[in-house]
Amino acid sequence: MRIAIVGGTGFVGSQLTAHLAEHGHELVLVARGSRSHAASAAAGAQFARADVVTGTGLAEALAGCQAVVNLVAVIVEKGRQTFDAVNRQGTANVAQAAAETGVAHLVQLSALGASPDPRFAYLASKWAGEQAIAISGAPHTIIRSSLVFGPGDGFFVKLARLVRRTPPFFPLPIAGDGRTLFQPIAAVDVARCIALALERGPSNGVVSIGGPDHLSYEQIIDVIRAEVVSLPRLKVHVPVIAIKPVARLMTAIMRDPLVTPSQLDLLGRNNVTLPGAVRVAFAFDPARFAESCGYLRRRGR
Ligand SMILES: NC(=O)c1ccc[n+]([C@@H]2O[C@H](COP(=O)([O-])OP(=O)(O)OC[C@H]3O[C@@H](n4cnc5c(N)ncnc54)[C@H](OP(=O)(O)O)[C@@H]3O)[C@@H](O)[C@H]2O)c1
Repeated sequence: MRIAIVGGTGFVGSQLTAHLAEHGHELVLVARGSRSHAASAAAGAQFARADVVTGTGLAEALAGCQAVVNLVAVIVEKGRQTFDAVNRQGTANVAQAAAETGVAHLVQLSALGASPDPRFAYLASKWAGEQAIAISGAPHTIIRSSLVFGPGDGFFVKLARLVRRTPPFFPLPIAGDGRTLFQPIAAVDVARCIALALERGPSNGVVSIGGPDHLSYEQIIDVIRAEVVSLPRLKVHVPVIAIKPVARLMTAIMRDPLVTPSQLDLLGRNNVTLPGAVRVAFAFDPARFAESCGYLRRRGR
């Protein structure tokens, strides 16, 4: 198949590109071009410049493709890259371009917990993007994922950095009560789910995916701590309300803030589906976070 991956130069996109190229597909990676797309050349993929917010370049990039995967979203709002512009309007523009160019299948990567609840702005925008696809007329499959881990991820790598940088005799700060549940899934497994969805064709429905374990935020910190530091550490729970102003400040002044207000919001609600969701929907067992987080030992970002 000739497949366009919108957002194909990002974290999940790089894994998906490698997986689909290995399976012999012809790929077009679509993005604004702010990141290196050297890996795409290695996978034999073409690069097409487009901006989902304005829609510029999308129809040209999708022309001649049998399928399109949309991986564009922001979890941190910056300038004109707002939740509404990128996650809602951008998704609507991709869906419209897919419908107009006659693409046979649009796969959208959404997020577990996507709902219109305005208290969770990121999840509400992901939900609005799903709605835009549903009314676009484009044949589609929506995959809602829990947090994705792997080299280059935006969540676990930052937690590892926080753990590593906390001086040995300081307690590790845990935002909130630490009890919110997540179901980390490996980027390679997300790529495999998307590839299987592409093979099956449009369901015009929603499928939820997550890793094999429900882990609380505190358990995730414990796994990371055991992986990246040798000595045991004390922990201290810090109310989210006390961290929020710091997160706001970091988001305003840093290019790559350690934590953002909307990430803190995500601690307010469990982010899980059934532990066997991937086995049920895609007939394979995804990797366990605790057994696959060795990449966090590498110092980066
Ligand atoms: N990571 C997770 O834990 C997780 C969990 C659940 C769901 N998801 C979903 O998975 C998808 C992929 O996430 P990710 O972590 O791989 O994201 P990412 O690493 O931030 O990659 C985003 C991609 O989108 C492109 N992009 C950004 N703004 C654009 C615009 N205005 N027009 C065109 N392209 C644009 C970026 O390239 P340029 O900057 O060059 O344009 C990049 O290729 C998202 O939809 C996200 O909601 C992720």
